[in-house]
Amino acid sequence: MAGHHAPELVLRGRPRPGDATQHRDRVAPTAGTDPVRVDSRCMAAPPHLLLVYGGHPGGRTETLRRAVVAGALGCGEAVELRERPALQAGLDDLLWADGLLLGTPEHFGYMSGALKDFFDRTFYPAEGRTEGRPYGLFVSAGNDGSGTVAAVARIATGYRWSPIAAPLVVVGAPDAAALARCEELGATLAAGLAAGIF
Ligand SMILES: Cc1cc2nc3c(=O)[nH]c(=O)nc-3n(C[C@H](O)[C@H](O)[C@H](O)COP(=O)(O)O)c2cc1C
Repeated sequence: MAGHHAPELVLRGRPRPGDATQHRDRVAPTAGTDPVRVDSRCMAAPPHLLLVYGGHPGGRTETLRRAVVAGALGCGEAVELRERPALQAGLDDLLWADGLLLGTPEHFGYMSGALKDFFDRTFYPAEGRTEGRPYGLFVSAGNDGSGTVAAVARIATGYRWSPIAAPLVVVGAPDAAALARCEELGATLAAGLAAGIF
């Protein structure tokens, strides 16, 4: 139709590294209509969400982690999730991540040694390279988890990461309400990343 122009697709989402050079408007010819301009950012890779966790297989932290993952993958938004036991997580994982989920049991009033080891190995190599990353923390504790929460928050501040929610501490065996809160944590971070909010 003369004078008619199909609206350009307007896409929302967080630009990712490389977008500035890779981004090109594409013109998709369609029979009988004016070209539709498609912003290629709609084909950008989904944001990367890294989950680093301590605790032993079959433990309560694992139960929480499964719920967090279910929330992250079930929020209806596209994220690429990478789960890593803390002892196997490294700098490459951290630099890959647009956002982080951290899970740990409380041991002797502190985070698990495995999660601490991850921080020990990555802190200086990552210095200045992950600033502003959004993160969420979940803790399985026998008492109140406060020592772990304080220690992780202090370290995360050192990386200059930003918490997306209050730390989630689950005391004792997780019940349905606790698991729902874990799902909510995962969903909140995933949805926020996908929407470009964080
Ligand atoms: C070695 C050890 C030390 C612990 N120290 C604490 C502690 O200081 N404070 C606390 O609240 N719970 C403590 N707990 C209890 C655990 O945090 C709690 O049982 C948690 O749910 C275990 O998670 P998991 O099953 O994933 O290992 C300790 C457990 C272990 C095995």
